Amino acid sequence: MRNICVVGTGYVGLVTGACFADLGNRVTCLDINQEKIDRLNQGIMPIYEPGLEELVERNVKAGRLVFTTEHAVALEDAAFVFICVGTPSGVDGEADLRYVREVAESIADIVNHPIVIINKSTVPVGTGDWVADVIRKRRGDNDLQFWVVSNPEFLREGAAISDFMSPDRVVLGSLDQEAANKVAQLYLSLRCPIVVTDLRTAEMIKYASNAFLATRISFINEIANICEELGADVREVATGMGYDKRIGRAFLDAGLGWGGSCFPKDVKALAHMAVLHGTHPQLLQAVMDINRNQRRRVVMKLRRALDTLDDKVIGILGLSFKPNTDDIREAPALEIIHLLQNEGAAVRAYDPAAMEVASAELRNVTLCEDPYQVAEGADALLLATEWNEFKHLDFERIHQVMRRPIIMDGRNLWNREWLTFLGFTYFGVGQGIYVNE
Ligand code: UGA
Repeated sequence: MRNICVVGTGYVGLVTGACFADLGNRVTCLDINQEKIDRLNQGIMPIYEPGLEELVERNVKAGRLVFTTEHAVALEDAAFVFICVGTPSGVDGEADLRYVREVAESIADIVNHPIVIINKSTVPVGTGDWVADVIRKRRGDNDLQFWVVSNPEFLREGAAISDFMSPDRVVLGSLDQEAANKVAQLYLSLRCPIVVTDLRTAEMIKYASNAFLATRISFINEIANICEELGADVREVATGMGYDKRIGRAFLDAGLGWGGSCFPKDVKALAHMAVLHGTHPQLLQAVMDINRNQRRRVVMKLRRALDTLDDKVIGILGLSFKPNTDDIREAPALEIIHLLQNEGAAVRAYDPAAMEVASAELRNVTLCEDPYQVAEGADALLLATEWNEFKHLDFERIHQVMRRPIIMDGRNLWNREWLTFLGFTYFGVGQGIYVNE
């Protein structure tokens, strides 16, 4: 059993803490937000993540997982401290490191035993060295034995626990091979490839991975738009491409583009780092532009289908940036709603998990109880998030209650033949020439 302190109880921290506890370690999760810690101590999760509540409950009961706001308690006998705090984007896309600095300073102030500091927050290349500097400066002559290891996370929201327990790989970066090996021991039971490299390379692997995945999505969205003009079907293009082992099928689903707390922030931060160091991240810029245009394009398609958006009623199904999460950060649906409202449309919306968070964010949107209520009186229905519960809707009922039977399937979830048979005008993404439908 090892003593682990995890700082930050967001997605990454909470999942990391609960999973390490489940692997038999003694874990203390530390957060400065008293209310969050109080709620966690009552078993209330701050986020919606399948399986997390049960995992936390089991490990708290077993005495392996505790939550606190007391730095001294959490760091007292920790052999490992994982930094999992937020790194919000500044105006130019640069990562704001104030929370990482605060953690480094608390370690310097409190810890007096050898400790391995592992950074899981997504931070600019070079931050690991900077953390070491912050600690050294703060300690002055009072030397502390510590090692900094970069251990980027590759968890997906909605699948975070299984991603932690069955990772494709674990990446560890350190100037000290022994420190990296100690951290590798924590992951050995997961039986996955472990890549040990230097600090900066590990930090770059994280950015490059997210930027590459975002690039794949923007690529297929660009192909989808060309398919629409040329009369090809992007879904079959992706399937046909995906059988090539060098390409693969994952992350080639055309739609409304990528959102969430990671891709937008990380691609922007990587481009910012590139510019700052004198290189021209042309591809990254294009990847971001395509993503922005994808949201505008669906609004343009709606405008064309309805002649004008002024005074039209648009129903939106799904608000979260992807299914199985209540996270609406950078969600395509939100930007699309603003664009529609700017053109005078009235918006009705429903999401299986994100209604509460969305209600705080959205203005003048009629939030409905289910998809059928959304469809009532709507001139068009737009699917923005492909939740499972939207897969098999009663479209005959929907047809009856809509003012005009227009479906904009932003995630290519539904069967075009069936919907056109029922009398809908159906638009997908990249499914052949849309203007003639
Ligand atoms: C992403 C990465 O997949 C994780 O590996 C990484 O750890 C995480 O960011 C992070 O940096 O913390 P996540 O943001 O949870 O995870 O979501 P994804 O499942 O990657 O989806 C991102 C966006 O791309 C969603 O808006 C989704 O709808 C969109 N997407 C995904 C597509 O439009 N098409 C696809 O084919 C796949």
